[in-house]
Amino acid sequence: MKEALVIDQIDISLAVPSDAGAIAQLSRDAIEHGLSWRWTARRVARSIRDSETNVVIARRGSEFLGFAILKYEDDDSHLLLMAVAPAHRRKGVASAMLGWLETTVQAGGWATIELEVRSRNEDAIAFYRHHGFDEAGLYPGYYEGVEDARRMVKAMRKLVT
Ligand SMILES: CC(C)(COP(=O)(O)OP(=O)(O)OC[C@H]1O[C@@H](n2cnc3c(N)ncnc32)[C@H](O)[C@@H]1OP(=O)(O)O)[C@@H](O)C(=O)NCCC(=O)NCCS
Repeated sequence: MKEALVIDQIDISLAVPSDAGAIAQLSRDAIEHGLSWRWTARRVARSIRDSETNVVIARRGSEFLGFAILKYEDDDSHLLLMAVAPAHRRKGVASAMLGWLETTVQAGGWATIELEVRSRNEDAIAFYRHHGFDEAGLYPGYYEGVEDARRMVKAMRKLVT
C-alpha cells in the first residue's frame, strides 16, 4: 500500500471504513446540496472497499479536512468526488489530495483523469483549470435535471511520437 504523504502537516492517506460517515456528510453538504443524497456512508464504505477505487482523506492531526474519490477504469480514471471542509479551503488541501492521486494515476499508466462538475460551481471549475484540466463538453440536465454538468479532462500519459 502507498505510504501516507505529509505536506505542511496535511496528512494524505487512504480512507478506512470508519471515515465513511464524515466523508458522506461533507459530500451531502458541500457537493450534493439541492440534490438527492446519493453518496451515503454505505456507498462511500463500498468505495473504500473497492480495489479499483481510491478514497483519499486529508487530515491535520485527528482533524478531518477533506476527501477525494477516484475510480480507475480500463484506460482512464474518473474523479468522482472531492471536497474540503469550508474552514480549510484555499490552503492547498485539495491540491495535496489531487497530487497524491495524480502520482498514482501516472505510475499506473492511466491516460486521463476525467470528471463532471456542476456547471455553476465556479470555485471547483477554477480549481480544476488551475490544475490543468480542460473543458470537454456539457451534459445538459445531468444532475437530476436541476443543473448541467461540465465534463473536464486532464491528459496524464505523455504521447510518444
Ligand atoms: C473546489 C475545492 C475542492 C478546492 O479545495 P481547496 O483545498 O480550497 O483548493 P486549493 O487550496 O488546493 O486551491 C488551489 C488553487 O485552485 C484555485 N482555486 C481553489 N478554490 C478556488 C476558488 N474558490 N476560486 C478561485 N480559484 C480557486 C486557486 O488557483 C488555488 O490557488 P490559490 O489559493 O493559491 O489562489 C473546494 O473549494 C471545495 O471543497 N468546494 C466544495 C466542493 C466541490 O465543489 N467539490 C468539487 C466538485 S466534486
